[in-house]
Amino acid sequence: MKRIQRIDEEMGRLRVRVKDTEDLKVWGDVFDVPTLKALYQLANKGIIKAMGGVVSTGKEANVFHAIGKEGELAIKIYKIATSDFKVMQEYLIGDPRFKNIKHSKKDIVLAWARKELRNLSRAYDAGVRVPKPIVVERNILVMEFIGKDGVPAPLLKDIAYEIEDPAELLAQIVDYMKALYNKAKLVHADLSEFNILYDGVPVFIDMGPSVTRDHPNAEAFLLRDVKNVVRFFRKLGVECSEEEVIARIR
Ligand SMILES: Nc1ncnc2c1ncn2[C@@H]1O[C@H](COP(=O)(O)OP(=O)(O)OP(=O)(O)O)[C@@H](O)[C@H]1O
Ligand SMILES: [Mg+2]
Repeated sequence: MKRIQRIDEEMGRLRVRVKDTEDLKVWGDVFDVPTLKALYQLANKGIIKAMGGVVSTGKEANVFHAIGKEGELAIKIYKIATSDFKVMQEYLIGDPRFKNIKHSKKDIVLAWARKELRNLSRAYDAGVRVPKPIVVERNILVMEFIGKDGVPAPLLKDIAYEIEDPAELLAQIVDYMKALYNKAKLVHADLSEFNILYDGVPVFIDMGPSVTRDHPNAEAFLLRDVKNVVRFFRKLGVECSEEEVIARIR
């Protein structure tokens, strides 16, 4: 995607011509105008020094690499038009932190981005290895980049058979789940080999869906997380059971 690779120059142009909507429209199929303006705000505040390439494109969000004040950043941009806001709603309703949000699609996606930032902050403060959260601007979440020189750390699912000591890695993941549950008082709610990066240690990502322990479905989500983790490590030959892992977390 040439266009995105050139965003660096474009950000420079945005600085002087942010009101020129014709210019902004050029980027319309990648970013809508409000998203571009939010990116411009982040550049203006000095949080983003330069945008880099695409790390991931998905249904809910695109993730980009960027350079910030203190190093590499991951910029997760939630899509307002195509996000499944009905699913998001289920994870927002029941969370006391978000009881006053409006129910338009846009407001739900914006609340979701703020929710992910707050979840990451709570996890980070509890000592769980997650990308250090930096800021949310509208639908844009800025966080620490896990990886080096624009290359993201691999997902657990992609290095499954290269893990040297899977039992040790499982123990580390369960420790993080325990800290998340008991210190941060959160349940990840979408934990699996698809949302754990491996950077020497496991790094939990994608915490938009994470809920507080008092959410009515928190226990069901915890059980699902445990099932996913146990299934993955059993496949790798680690002897473990859901009951045993649950007992270690609680
Ligand atoms: N902080 C980060 N550092 C490096 N890479 C990241 C970071 N956050 C996300 N990624 C990469 O981007 C991908 C998508 O991120 P994430 O899981 O948070 O989004 P998602 O909501 O699952 O998006 P999708 O709609 O694609 O499922 C991850 O699998 C990972 O490869
Ligand atoms: Mg994900």
